[in-house]
Amino acid sequence: MLKTFYIETWGCQMNVYDSEKMSQLLKNTHQMTAVSNPEDADLLLLNTCSIREKAEEKVFSLLGRWRKLKAASPEKRIGVGGCVASQEGERIFDRAPYVDFVFGPQTLQQLPLFIQRLKDGQSHFLNIDFLPDEKFDQLPTPQTSGVSAFVTIQEGCSKYCKYCIVPFTRGPEVNRKVEDILKEVGMLAIQGVREITLLGQNVNAYRAIDESGRFFDLAALLYHCSKIPGIGRLRFTTSHPVEFTDTLIAAYKDIPELASHLHLPVQSGSNAILQAMGRGHTAQEYLDKIAALKAARPDLTITSDFIIAYPGETEENFMDTLRLVDAVQFDQSFCFIYSPRPGTLAASLECTIPDEEKHARLKRLQAKLDQHSLSHREKLKGTIQRVLVESYDHETQRAKARTEGNVIVHVNDASPRMAGLFIDALIEDVFAHSLRGRFLAIHDPYLDQRMSDHRMSKETNGAQSIEKNLRTSCESNNSCTSHSCSS
Ligand code: SAH
Ligand code: SF4
Ligand code: F3S
Repeated sequence: MLKTFYIETWGCQMNVYDSEKMSQLLKNTHQMTAVSNPEDADLLLLNTCSIREKAEEKVFSLLGRWRKLKAASPEKRIGVGGCVASQEGERIFDRAPYVDFVFGPQTLQQLPLFIQRLKDGQSHFLNIDFLPDEKFDQLPTPQTSGVSAFVTIQEGCSKYCKYCIVPFTRGPEVNRKVEDILKEVGMLAIQGVREITLLGQNVNAYRAIDESGRFFDLAALLYHCSKIPGIGRLRFTTSHPVEFTDTLIAAYKDIPELASHLHLPVQSGSNAILQAMGRGHTAQEYLDKIAALKAARPDLTITSDFIIAYPGETEENFMDTLRLVDAVQFDQSFCFIYSPRPGTLAASLECTIPDEEKHARLKRLQAKLDQHSLSHREKLKGTIQRVLVESYDHETQRAKARTEGNVIVHVNDASPRMAGLFIDALIEDVFAHSLRGRFLAIHDPYLDQRMSDHRMSKETNGAQSIEKNLRTSCESNNSCTSHSCSS
C-alpha cells in the first residue's frame, strides 16, 4: 500500500520546483517510487495553478478522470495541492469527495505526515496554511541529474496587482535565508548543474541579512552564486519593473554569468491601464529601465507578459500596448485575455469589451509579438552562439542546447558526452521557436580550469574522465577548434 506515486504539475516554475521537492520527500521519507502513469500509482497528486479562468474547471475535470481510476482500484489515494487547493480549500471535498487530502504551496513539506495519516486510515484532511519559514527549513536536499535547475529564493507576493490571485494563494512575500540558497546552489553544482534560475514571484524585491550581518539584495545573491565553482549561467524570474534597482541593472555589467535574457512583464503599454491594474509604474518608466539595461548589456533580449482587454481598455489603450511592443522589440513573449479571479480587487469590475473584440486584440498582439520574435531569431542566423548542452538525442544525432536568450538550438556534429558543457554553435537554420546549428568548439572556462588543475596534480579522477570524454568527442569532430584540446 502506498508504494508508488504520480504527480501532475500545472502552472509556473515555482510549481515545477515544488513538485520536485514533493517527489524527493516521498522518496526519502516513505521510500516511495515515482511512476509516469496515473494508472500505475498508489498515490495521485495534482499540483494546481489558479492564475487564469477555468483553472478550477480544469482541476475538477482531471479529478473526475482520477475518480474512475480510484473506483477501479479503491486502495488508490488522491491529494490536491498548489494554488487552486489554497484558493478552494474545503470546497474541493464538497465537489470531489473522493479526494483524500488537500494541501497548499506552503504545506507541501508536511507530505510525509500526510502519507502517515493515510497509512493510519485517515482521509479528508486539509492544511493550506501559509508556513513559508517551515517550508524553507524542511525542503529536502536537492537531487538532480540535469544541467539546469530552479532554486526558490522567495515565497508569495506582496504586490497585490488588482487582477492577480497569487498573493491570495501563496501569501505575502517571504525571503529565504541567504545561507540556505547558497548551500542549495552549491549542492546542485556538485551534482553537475551548470545553470541556475532563481525563482520568486517578485524576485527582484529579494532582501535579506545573512548570519554575519551582511545585506543581500538580488544582485548580491547573483554575484555570490556566480562564484560557486561550476555555475556558468544564472537567470532569475519573475521580476517586477518597480523594484528593478540600479544595482540589479549594474549586475548585467559586472556578472558575466548572468544570461543576456530578462523576463520583465509589463502587462500593458497604456498608463491608464497600468494605473487601473495597480502596477505602480508608467510605460515610460518601464522603457527607461529597458534603456538602462541595454546600456549595461547591449545584447540583452527582453521577454514579457501582457494582459489584454482589462476592464476599461479602449482601442487607444490597446494601441499604446502595440506601440510599446514596437519600441522594445520583445523576444518570445506571452499574452493573455484578462480573466477575473475570485477575491481580487479587479474581480468586481465590469468588462464591456465584447468577446470577439477581446479575441481580435489577442490575435493582433500575438501577430506582432511573433513577428518581433522571428526577427530576433533571424538575426541569429550565421552567428556563433555560446550554448549550454542539455541532452543528446541518439535518434537524430543532435544535441539539444539553449542560448543565453533561452532559445533552443538543435546542434549537429555534437557528441553525447557534451551534455553539461558550454559549446560554441554556428546557427544555420531558424524556425519559429527554435534554431538549428553546428558544433564548432568547446567554450567552457570551468572545464579548462578543471583540466589544467588535473594536468598540474595528475590526481583527479573526475577531471581525467572529463578530459577523456572531451578528447573522444573532439576526435569524432574534425571541426573541433577548442583551445583546451590538443588533439
Ligand atoms: N509575478 C509575475 C507574474 C506571475 S503570473 C509578474 O508580476 O510579472 C504570470 C502572468 O500571468 C502575469 O504576468 C500576467 O500576464 C498573467 N496573469 C496574471 N493574472 C491574470 C489574470 N487575472 N488574467 C489574465 N492574465 C493574468
Ligand atoms: Fe501577481 Fe503582481 Fe505579484 Fe506578479 S507582482 S505575482 S502579477 S500580484
Ligand atoms: Fe499559478 Fe500559483 Fe504559479 S497561480 S502561476 S502556480 S504561483
